[in-house]
Parts: sequence; structure tokens; C-alpha cells
Amino acid sequence: MICNHYFITMPNFHDFLCSFIFLFSRTFPKTFQGPHASKGNLNLYNSSIRVLCNANSSEGFDPQKDVSLPEINLRNGKMPANLLSPPPLSSSRPHLAFFAGGVHGPIRPILLNQWKGQDPDLQVHDYLPKGLDYYSFMLASKYCLCPSGYEVASPRIVEAVYSECVPVIISDHYVLPFSDVLRWEAFSIQVKVSEIGELKRILTSVPENEYLRLKENLRAVRRHFVLNQPAERFDVFHMILHSVWLRRLNLKVE
Ligand SMILES: *[C@@H]1O[C@H](CO)[C@@H](O)[C@H](O)[C@H]1NC(C)=O
Ligand SMILES: *[C@@H]1O[C@H](CO)[C@@H](O)[C@H](O)[C@H]1NC(C)=O
Repeated sequence: MICNHYFITMPNFHDFLCSFIFLFSRTFPKTFQGPHASKGNLNLYNSSIRVLCNANSSEGFDPQKDVSLPEINLRNGKMPANLLSPPPLSSSRPHLAFFAGGVHGPIRPILLNQWKGQDPDLQVHDYLPKGLDYYSFMLASKYCLCPSGYEVASPRIVEAVYSECVPVIISDHYVLPFSDVLRWEAFSIQVKVSEIGELKRILTSVPENEYLRLKENLRAVRRHFVLNQPAERFDVFHMILHSVWLRRLNLKVE
């Protein structure tokens, strides 16, 4: 299989990808910027399937033709070790919601202004105080807040899926990865930017059985976001290939 072949011949796929991106961005410094990628060549821009993390539909990302790539933060080329096996579904999660991260882009300042240090149920931080562990917070929270930053995408969505912490997506114009085949509303919650002030009310009004259903569905879709080396059936690598293949039906490839 072609994907396994790639992983076998490139054992360190992450390094390969980084060198590729580095080279590419040096060669085309003005074009390698999310939705603007390949704009330098209009023909390529319109006629190729672009696979992008920053899938901002109001910035030229075309969901019919382009592929939204989940953003995954691989430190040392691996998934975070403490997210490999989340706790049992029945284990209790003391925090209602959690966010920690850089305050950039248009949405995060609104979230931080409203909720930072306001309510112990909503653990909203810019950077976590020293000694506190980011992933432990995710594993101990029912909901993980995923507001867009500079870009619509953020690795915390995938990290929330890994930790079975229901993602709360706060974003404008973000085309979610694999949304042709995954019903995001079955395992995440979308909150409008204008509803940020209502976050606690919205999350506490989700009935317990509905929350459990979201969590069970998260467990069911988790494997579609997992990176295996070599790739395994239905994992993130195959999901990406499948998204590309689907777009091929919409785009006449000469
Ligand atoms: C690409 O698409 C844009 C927007 O639809 C259009 O204005 C432009 O003429 C197209 N360019 C090419 C080279 O097809
Ligand atoms: C998405 O694109 C719009 C239009 O260019 C822009 O105003 C907005 O800031 C972008 N969103 C993010 C999070 O980059």
C-alpha cells in the first residue's frame, strides 16, 4: 500500500515533512501561508487540491476542492504520551472547561477577558502557571475550549479528541477536517463568538446523557485522528488520503 510504503521508506516522516516545508517556504516565501498557499501561481491555485490546516473559507479555502488538514502538534515526531490512553469513560472530570494558550487572533482576547480567573469551573488561562501540566488539565476537564488564534485551526482540537475532552469550537469560517464523513456535532459543541459570555450556561445546560453521548462518540472517532507509524486502516493518514480522493471527484484532474 502506498501510504505504508512511504512510512517504511521514510521512518522519520516528521523530519521529512519539516524539511519539505522549510525548503518550500524558502523557495516560495510569499506563497506558503495557509489559504494563500499557491496564490503565486493562479492556475495552480484554482486547479489543484490544496491540503491546508488553516482552512479559512473566507480566505480562499474552497471546501469543494481543498482539504482541511487536522493540525497535530507532534513533539519529537510523536503523539503526546499521556494522551495515548485516556481514562475510562466513567471516570470523573473535575473541571467543566479548560483553555490555556497564547492570546492572539481576534477571538481569544474576548474569551480571556470574559473568563480568565472568573470562575473555578472554567479553567481559562493564557499560559499555565509553572508546575501545572497542560495535558493533565485536558484529561481532567469535561470540555476543552478551542478558540481560533492567528489561524482558524489549532492543535488543541485534536488533543481534545485524544483526551476525550469534548471540543468546544469557537471559530468563524473554519471548515473542520473530515467534515464530509464525520458529523462534528455528534462529538463536539460549536459556540458562536457572540455567545462567549454564555459559555457556562451553555455547557451546564447540556444534559448528562447528552454529554455522555458526545464522549462516547469522541471515543468512536478518536482513531481517525491518531497518527500511526506505519499507518493503520482508518487512521489520520488514511482519512487525509480519503479527503483528497473525495475532492478528486469534484475537480477534473488532467
Ligand atoms: C481562479 O479563480 C478566481 C476566482 O474564482 C478567478 O477570478 C480567476 O480568474 C481564476 N484564475 C484562473 C487562472 O483560472
Ligand atoms: C479568516 O479570514 C478572514 C477574511 O480574510 C479574516 O478576517 C479572519 O481573521 C480569518 N480568521 C483567522 C482566525 O485567521
